[in-house]
Amino acid sequence: MPAPAELADRLARHGQEHVLRFWDELSDDQRQRLAGQLDAIDLDEIAALYAGDVDQPDWEAAARRAEPPRAMRLADRQSGQGGGLGVTREEAEKRGKAALDAGKVGVLLVAGGQGSRLGFEKPKGMYPIGPVSAATLLQIHLEKAVALAERHGVGVPVYLMTSPVTHDDTVEFLAEHDRFGLAEDDLFIFRQGTMPAVDKETGKLLLADKGELFLSPDGHGGTVAALATYKSGTSGKSGTSGKSEMAGRPGGENAVEHMKRRGIECLYYLQVDNPLIPIGDKELIGYHLATDSELTSVAVAKETPDEKLGNFVMLDGKLCVIEYSDFPAEVAAQTDEGGGLRFWAGSIAVHVFGVAFLERMLALKDALPFHIAKKKVPHLGADGEPVDPSEPNALKFERFIFDLLPQAENPIVVEYAEEEIFAPLKNAPGAPKDTAEYVQRFLVNQHRGWLQAAGVELPADTPVEISPLWALDAEGVLERAARGPIAVDGPTYLR
Ligand code: UD1
Repeated sequence: MPAPAELADRLARHGQEHVLRFWDELSDDQRQRLAGQLDAIDLDEIAALYAGDVDQPDWEAAARRAEPPRAMRLADRQSGQGGGLGVTREEAEKRGKAALDAGKVGVLLVAGGQGSRLGFEKPKGMYPIGPVSAATLLQIHLEKAVALAERHGVGVPVYLMTSPVTHDDTVEFLAEHDRFGLAEDDLFIFRQGTMPAVDKETGKLLLADKGELFLSPDGHGGTVAALATYKSGTSGKSGTSGKSEMAGRPGGENAVEHMKRRGIECLYYLQVDNPLIPIGDKELIGYHLATDSELTSVAVAKETPDEKLGNFVMLDGKLCVIEYSDFPAEVAAQTDEGGGLRFWAGSIAVHVFGVAFLERMLALKDALPFHIAKKKVPHLGADGEPVDPSEPNALKFERFIFDLLPQAENPIVVEYAEEEIFAPLKNAPGAPKDTAEYVQRFLVNQHRGWLQAAGVELPADTPVEISPLWALDAEGVLERAARGPIAVDGPTYLR
């Protein structure tokens, strides 16, 4: 049976008819799936991206004329006086707490990436990172939301973004574990979209299999569109089967509608790879609200110029992030009068977003540019045999959420110390940083620090881990300590 004429014509007009090469060999289901994938692709957009005539900012040139960002530096924050922001720490904490008490805060957790550097087969959120408990990243994040809800007496909904790569495993895992205690209406899982990869030399779409395009997640910038397009109750990977992750929920609700129904006004945003994050941190939320910021970001001071962190900079009067891979080494190495790095402000991908801001961005078409990356993409060759390239052979297209920054009113950057907020799991064992062992060391240090600050005696070199359900933070540990003695005499998981 030939391919539908309309589809064949559309592909031929764009020089992409080769993707139907194996049509005759496909089953009906495979044909339906391939046609569905092709329907979802804007071939004009792909052609324009390949031709480079969609506004591709020249990031390296931008970095050369950039200035360091305005930010609340760590010393100002720690002094409690608020530096240039004009908001003291005490005021900020009060504002943040009031918003949490009023149930206006949600959590936006992005977990759609493939985690290829880590070499872990399952979604990264399922990695057992707890140093004593082996709790997974997802368990730690979700238990923090449960503990926040308990502290403030009101649910803190988690909007969890997956991708077709991570969705089914994540949904199944969370169902098996009863959402780690989150109320049913406090977890909204939504799946981001995908983009095809094209051959670097010809711009032709690549096939993963005879009846399947090579697709990958469209970057965490895809969050914005997915907040509105993904409806609750949508079924599994293929779009034709699978169970609803939203049973008992008003059907067909998207994430933004869920936020509106729940009265959520701002979102604490984080990546799944970092278990050190103080989710729902009232201080950060308070600075965001007190300064009428639409988008608030956390920075840490880079230790070395080549650290793999996006760089906060001022560009033509606007705050933005230039990704590490686009930041020229000689600009990164510039120093200021004090001898420190001029571009010191590394992005750890923790933000607070106003929900109204995200809605405004949703109304704009193309609020986010695409970044083009050259990647090695294994695919099916013209002869139907698999090709495993040793050099980058393909272009992938991704959007980055931090590109919303220039559009935000009153964006602010607040510096935190690395040890209080940033230990991401990125690399397989053996790497100098960001391995499981590295992350576990930070977690143990953080938890030991909270206990010691509460006067608890700890044996040296002993791993201690605190479940968020036992104590959410240093304040929670102080409350526990006030209720009675805490004994630790060997490796301990306080739960
Ligand atoms: C990212 C940031 C970088 C920041 C660093 C801090 C980008 C492009 N860069 O770098 O500026 O300094 O984190 O740790 O993000 N994700 C999705 N969908 C996608 C792609 C990614 O949900 O399509 C999620 C991943 O699950 C992960 C996070 O985004 O939680 C980061 O992705 P990753 O590719 O690991 O970014 P990095 O290169 O580490």
